[in-house]
Order: sequence, then C-alpha cells, then structure tokens
Amino acid sequence: MKKFTSVSDVENLQEIIKKALQIKENPLSETEKGKGKTIGLVFLNSSLRTRLSSQIAAQNLGLNILTLNAAQEAWSLEFADGAAMNGDTVEHIKDAIEVLNQYCDIIAVRCFAGMKSKEDDVNESILSQFEQHAKVPVISLESATRHPLQSLADCITITENWHFDDSSSSPQAKLSVKSKPKVVLTWAPHIKPIAHAVGNSFAEWMQEMDVELVIANPEGYDLDKNFTKDVKVIHDQEEALKDADFIYVKNWSSFDDYAAMPEVKENWMLTNKKLANTNQGKVMHCLPVRRNVELSDEVMDSKNSIIYQQAKNRIFSAQAVFSEILDELN
Ligand code: CP
Repeated sequence: MKKFTSVSDVENLQEIIKKALQIKENPLSETEKGKGKTIGLVFLNSSLRTRLSSQIAAQNLGLNILTLNAAQEAWSLEFADGAAMNGDTVEHIKDAIEVLNQYCDIIAVRCFAGMKSKEDDVNESILSQFEQHAKVPVISLESATRHPLQSLADCITITENWHFDDSSSSPQAKLSVKSKPKVVLTWAPHIKPIAHAVGNSFAEWMQEMDVELVIANPEGYDLDKNFTKDVKVIHDQEEALKDADFIYVKNWSSFDDYAAMPEVKENWMLTNKKLANTNQGKVMHCLPVRRNVELSDEVMDSKNSIIYQQAKNRIFSAQAVFSEILDELN
C-alpha cells in the first residue's frame, strides 16, 4: 500500500479485514516491523480515538511516534497558495510538510472540512497539499470528505458480528437465512452543522462489502451522490429500519445547501422502541456522541450497542494499514 486516504487505496478489502482480525488475536506479532522508522501523527483538529488508537497501533509495530497537535501547539498555518503572509499565519503548509518529510517515514494527518467553502472541502484543499508535497506515504486520519480508518474499523466490526462465510461451522451461520446483512446508515439530530466525512466514507466502504446498504435521512440531507451512487436513500426512518441487522447512527449537515441545517419535524433520535422494528439490530456510532441528542442513553447502554467494540477496532484498523505501508517501505 503506497498511501491510505480512501477505500480505493485498498487492493483487497477482505484480505485487510482478515489481517486486522489476525492482529487483534496477536497485536504484538510484528513488533520489529517499524523499528528505526518514524510516523508523524499530525492533528489539525481534535481527536480522542484516532490519536490514541494510532499511537497504540504504531507502538505495536515498533515505530517511533511524533504526535503534533498542530492547532494548539504549532505555528499558525497558512494554506493559501501564493499568499502574502502579512497577517496571523506564520508558517505555510507546504514548508511544514517539507520539514515533516525530513523527520518522518510516514505522515498521517487529520484535516477536517472547514464547512465554509463547499468547493474547498469537496476538493480536499488541505489533504491534497499533503498528497502533493509529502515525499513519504500519506495516511488520512480523517479529511474533509472521508474517514477511511474509521470505515475500515466499521467493516471489521460488522465482519465480527455477522457470519458472511456460509461454510463457517458457527451455529449462527447455519441458522442464518439471510446471505447478507441489511445495514442502515441513519441520520441523527445534532445541535450544529457536522461534516459529511464519516457518512460519505461509510457509504463508500459498505458498497465494497457484501451487505444490503440503505441510507435513511430527512429531506434536504442527502449525502453527495459521488459517495452514495446507487444506494437506496429513504426519507422515512421507520421504513428504513425495518429488519435492519446493523444500524449506523451519524449526523451530517445538508450537502446540497452546504452546511445548512434544514428544519426536521420528526424525531430521528434512535430509541429502543425504534429498534424493536429491526432484526435485533446492532447499533454502531463512530463516537464522540452527544447522548440524548444523537443517540439515547437507553440505546447507547443497551446490549444492541457494539459501539465500544467498534472503537477498540480502531487500533486494528490502523495497525493493519500501518503494517501494509511498512511493507512498501521495507
Ligand atoms: N471516531 C473518531 O474518529 O474519533 P475521534 O474524533 O475522537 O478521533
């Protein structure tokens, strides 16, 4: 693997899921692989899971780790090409990347959507600069339009909770009448405009999995067609949830009317009553979650929730990707 910014960088999705699950069984199986190499983890935005799971994954591979919380600790960055830097910005992003090239064998970066310019966000105005100026492999820790390490963790989690292989000897597989699970990506309420990266990315990766994907969101909240393609979009949550095996809860703002929050009259927060309509659906969320706004306490804390398992799998998602990148460097 030469870089990791979207599902298209993965040669064989099933193979990397299998690899991640093997790593989960034995996380310290490759402690020498990263020896003498350095990964730079650059955060232009806040993080709990991505920062810590990436650090654990890198540590398990014997990598040296440089973590830069750029927004808080580094010089104020300029992103505009050709800017006369006579204002608040002190260092141009391309100089910062050139310096990171001197210190790192891999550069991983988190650069969220600014949610101000649709054009800048859709064109990945920051990630594209890393891809342009980095001389080492680039890994996305979530960019304006995608969150691939999260999506890989989501694929791992669904695989663990569904027996895709008919030849499996597990009792659940033998009893299962469905060959593929119904996965519903459902919009949830929020108090402020949220980016599309997790929703886009989940839709993109699920189309590479052997699942029936349905997206449920209110009118005015359809995701970018470049990511959802021919996936069925339903504007009635109850209808979408019927017989769902997995329910992925996430908020996003309007894409068409960029970053707006059109009024939603119905209550889209997932409750146990709504879950009753599903096939004992397992509930997923990438976290952080605003309890009792996006997702009710009763669902978060229920036996249907596989949210913490999903968070744990962020380690093995990152470790599988870092390991594949190191294969290319060694
Ligand atoms: N899910 C996720 O990426 O969490 P953080 O924003 O805390 O890294």
